[in-house]
Amino acid sequence: MGYFSKKTMVDCKICNRKTGQIISFGKMPIANSFKSKIVEEKVLLSNLSLAFCPFCLMVQLEETVASEILYSRDYPFISSTSNVMANHFEKMAQEIIRKIYGKKKPFVVELGCNDGILLKHIAVKKINHLGIEPAGNVARLAEKNNVKVLCEFFNKKTAMQIVKKHGKADVIAGANVISHIENLNSVFEGLKILLKKNGYFIFEDPYLYDILEKSSFDQIYDEHIYYFSGLSIMNLALKYGFQLVNMKHQNVHGGSMRYYLQKSEIRNPKSEIKRWVDKEKKMRLDKIDGYLGFKNRVDKTCFVLKQTLFKIKKSNKRIVGYGATSKSTTLLNYLKIGPEIIDYIVDITPTKIDKYTPGTNISIKSRDFFIADNPAYVLLLAWNHKKEIFQKEKKYRQKGGKFILYFPKILIE
Ligand code: TYD
Repeated sequence: MGYFSKKTMVDCKICNRKTGQIISFGKMPIANSFKSKIVEEKVLLSNLSLAFCPFCLMVQLEETVASEILYSRDYPFISSTSNVMANHFEKMAQEIIRKIYGKKKPFVVELGCNDGILLKHIAVKKINHLGIEPAGNVARLAEKNNVKVLCEFFNKKTAMQIVKKHGKADVIAGANVISHIENLNSVFEGLKILLKKNGYFIFEDPYLYDILEKSSFDQIYDEHIYYFSGLSIMNLALKYGFQLVNMKHQNVHGGSMRYYLQKSEIRNPKSEIKRWVDKEKKMRLDKIDGYLGFKNRVDKTCFVLKQTLFKIKKSNKRIVGYGATSKSTTLLNYLKIGPEIIDYIVDITPTKIDKYTPGTNISIKSRDFFIADNPAYVLLLAWNHKKEIFQKEKKYRQKGGKFILYFPKILIE
């Protein structure tokens, strides 16, 4: 374990053995804590750093923020702000419906259902379902979409409650939620209770391979506790008596992986798993040295991006941001970029408009404001929605407006 300095060694949250630090960004505010007024003193709560466990191969945050702080308050992230994501979840719902085809009174559960972007397609087919959503404001939005919701965190206790009231589930789904849950032990204990013998646990999260390949370090923030790969999910599944039976890559959130788990008596893993795991091994995601160049690549991107922004500012052109994402909290705080560089950030989420970004105090404005303002440059902070945003902002670009992109490399388009 020669690569790890003793100082940074922490215990793996999955297997309790020693991990080693991959990258550290220093102190960060809560990524999604948009403020209603400028906060002069920086409320920097956690050290943002990532560790790799050479035993169970899980990449994870070293320091975490309590889930009650992150999710119990009004959660500003509303899933249905992107048409692409809405289509993506409609397709996911169709896949779930195919999985339960022919079953008597099937039951579908979603962990972290947000505003019901997925489950509303299940509800409309009158399929028995339940969304588990701890954030009250988004749970209420899901209910407005005719989705049945239990406003709780998912664990063994909630699983028992659900089984008692509704029976066991044929499919349990989770999108961008499993990587957010620190205590995966309690989740898997709950899954064991809630999932039927032949049932599927289907979940997706940003894919470690994509993050390493693009050096998209802004995926690293407090809510993303784990950075999954096929390698780490295989180990995690085995630990709790499940088996990884399929993997399907998804073109959302900058590259995500959908994992399919079943209880381990059922064996027939797809060849797709071997294909992805081989790719992961080729990138050496199972070895410490696979992570060694990451920090240098990140710092190089940051250096060039900062230079690009400074150069534009020097030519007296204005720059705004597009998308007040959680990702941008890591990017802007790590680069130490505030309103002196970025005039404001445009975002269509009503709960974010007229607020200020955590730690950097950049104001968030509506899209109408942006259209009327017509600034020369836009830093695309919601880079994972490039296609949709370029489509939406066709006119802005036709009039000469330029987007600054930074992953996988810095480009002005
Ligand atoms: P997202 O990409 O999910 O990022 P994160 O998980 O890092 O928060 O968030 C996208 C943000 O961009 C969200 O605040 C909504 C905003 N957005 C727009 O303002 N306009 C758009 O057209 C799209 C697609 C997103």
